[in-house]
Amino acid sequence: MDKIVALCKRRGIIFPASEIYGGIANTYDYGHYGVLLKNNIAGAWWKAMIQERDDIVALDSAIIQHPRTWEASGHLAGFTDPLVDCRACKRRFRADHLEEVRNGTAEHPDLRCGRAPSKLPGEHADCDLTEAREFNLMFETSIGPVKDAGSTVYLRPETAQGIFLAFKTTLGFARKKPPFGIAQIGKSFRNEITPGNFIFRTLEFEQMEMEFFVPPSEAEHWHQHWMEQRMAWYVSLGIDPEKLRLRPHGEDELSHYSSATSDIEYLYPIGWSELEGIANRGDFDLTQHAKYSGQKLEYVDTASGDRYVPHVIEPAAGLGRTVLTLLCDAYDEDEIGGEQRTVLRLKPAMAPIKVAVLPLVNKEGQPERAREIYEELRELMPAEYDTGGSIGKRYRRQDEIGTPWGVTVDHQTMDDGTVTLRDRDTLEQERIPASELGDELQRRLAAPWTSPKLVRR
Ligand code: GLY
Repeated sequence: MDKIVALCKRRGIIFPASEIYGGIANTYDYGHYGVLLKNNIAGAWWKAMIQERDDIVALDSAIIQHPRTWEASGHLAGFTDPLVDCRACKRRFRADHLEEVRNGTAEHPDLRCGRAPSKLPGEHADCDLTEAREFNLMFETSIGPVKDAGSTVYLRPETAQGIFLAFKTTLGFARKKPPFGIAQIGKSFRNEITPGNFIFRTLEFEQMEMEFFVPPSEAEHWHQHWMEQRMAWYVSLGIDPEKLRLRPHGEDELSHYSSATSDIEYLYPIGWSELEGIANRGDFDLTQHAKYSGQKLEYVDTASGDRYVPHVIEPAAGLGRTVLTLLCDAYDEDEIGGEQRTVLRLKPAMAPIKVAVLPLVNKEGQPERAREIYEELRELMPAEYDTGGSIGKRYRRQDEIGTPWGVTVDHQTMDDGTVTLRDRDTLEQERIPASELGDELQRRLAAPWTSPKLVRR
């Protein structure tokens, strides 16, 4: 993980937020390439949810909803972590994690008391832990200039609730009937104290959630359907299938709203961990919101007169976690001409930049010709023009951000109009007419792709 964190910082993909003030816990900024990578993932998610199906509609709901939302959803009462404080070092730890560390079922190397960095809390004389207390994970804020009891609102801890609140309105205009879904991508906020492992757990994070409303008798069928679909989606991003698994939750792990959940887990450098949860939420949320709002939240079949509260299947993915997964999965090192190279072997469709156009030397008209080619290619795909440093250095830079192809304009280009087209993974360099580049790169981008890491295995 350290190497991935270093690469992200070096190339401005993702870096600690508020760095000039020394940073702030578990909070990161996405730089240029990080934004492009994240957008590619979000685009692939929308494509799978909206473009390739006709039973899901999109939503972008508010982050701050009516505070009753969280009473109804159970978050106000139950969305808590048991925390203990160390009276000696004044730091706070999750009681359940300390327990896991003590009984050897988990390792949390970051759970170290400030006074004695080499020891775990509870294992040295200075550590003086309080009893565990339940702390709510929701961030509170207030509406209006006067902070009083009536003005308290919450930053949403999941995007899902915005979908339930919009169920009735959406049903009214979307001309859909169950089974149908509402999908959204947006930020959620959780006041986590658990050390984050880079962007694995952050205070604010983007969720890609879809609530699929189904007739109650079909819930199990659709739960199965979404587990299969979502696994296949991660594989379609180029992720190693052997590092993905589906793990059903035990009874003691289930959220308050869920009757069955399976996690899609990835084998991160920190071990197998959750990438996405696929839950059967039953009729919990619609029933609760109907009770608290006094509105009828049900589906009425106008032909048969049947009415029922749909059950909900929810694939809930983390966008940042998917970014981290792609980075971990694509990270590779090899050697070129005796020099070590770091390379992100991203599937080309996911790569932030598809092609870099580089003049071999910054003279003899090469930069001008390279810039022309770049301006043509950027109409077709994200491209970059780079003149800074030796050609080897420029290739290394592109390899580190996962750019699959490099075009070099050289002396021969000026004579016969051909360029070299370099492949990030095979390192092959082909000469092709510059006029054919657009078609060739579009063909390559659309072609089936297998990670060279899998081919090598
Ligand atoms: N909506 C499920 C979750 O936030 O984990």
